[in-house]
Amino acid sequence: MSEINPFLDPARQKELYGDATRLAGRSNALMRAKTSGWDVPETVAGLLKSHHTRSDELDLVLDIGCGRGTSTLVLGECLRARRVVGLDASASLLAQARERIQDPADSRVEFMKGDFHALPLDVGCWDAAVAAFCLYHSPRPQDVVAQIARVLTPDGLAVFVTKGLDSYREMDQLVVEAGLDIHATQRESLYIAAHSGNLAELAATSLDVIAIQEEEHTFTFDGHDHVAQYLATNPKYEFGPGLYGNPEAIAATLHEFLPDRPLSTRSLITFVVTRQKTRRST
Ligand SMILES: C[S@@+](CC[C@H](N)C(=O)[O-])C[C@H]1O[C@@H](n2cnc3c(N)ncnc32)[C@H](O)[C@@H]1O
Repeated sequence: MSEINPFLDPARQKELYGDATRLAGRSNALMRAKTSGWDVPETVAGLLKSHHTRSDELDLVLDIGCGRGTSTLVLGECLRARRVVGLDASASLLAQARERIQDPADSRVEFMKGDFHALPLDVGCWDAAVAAFCLYHSPRPQDVVAQIARVLTPDGLAVFVTKGLDSYREMDQLVVEAGLDIHATQRESLYIAAHSGNLAELAATSLDVIAIQEEEHTFTFDGHDHVAQYLATNPKYEFGPGLYGNPEAIAATLHEFLPDRPLSTRSLITFVVTRQKTRRST
């Protein structure tokens, strides 16, 4: 088995996020399977509105690890903010995010390239920051939290979102049964660096935690063809030659070894709302 967790391996991250079309295929397959659970970007916007003391007059909102900009665009629609900026390390995802801006004349939403370990932003200027489903790509997520604390205004809020360690474990079982990767159930969770069980603790290294919200999201994939679209770019597994990135070949293997059937799975989603640490006078 490989030594380094694929979500923490820069080469695997490049493979996963270097091609926007591949990521869209994976995300769309998952969203098509979703049967219950709040919409995550709308929930984040709701948390910012209910917890920020100046939610009606936010100036700058930052969406860290914004990917294809799904959450950035929703934050732009749901919040009355002067500027919402999505930041990501992947040029390809940022290009697609920019294409998804509905009204190119609307300068409220914009995207910038950057590494969340060294935010290229001024100290103390951002009213709100969001880091959804991205801290688990950092070998030092507490450094990312410190960076966020550095750029927030004194009354600024940050919302962190992640998944439970055992998310989608029913897929591991399917992958084993089909012989696609016989070690699938023993492989380390992709979310090991920042998961539902340690997110609040991580956030508390530089910020004060003010609320935690959790919800189990459920998914049912129609059958082998549908689940193969998600599995094809899942770096957790070690597939045989020609299978990674190839949904048709994965579907063909599933059909060959298992009767077609729907697959139901789940993921715990955790939201942690934080603010700047209260400074105690001595
Ligand atoms: C699963 S996607 C999350 C996208 C988005 N936040 C969402 O909720 O849909 C994770 C994102 O983190 C980004 N990322 C990973 N490492 C990063 C880093 N060091 N700096 C900035 N972004 C990073 C990836 O490029 C990818 O777009």
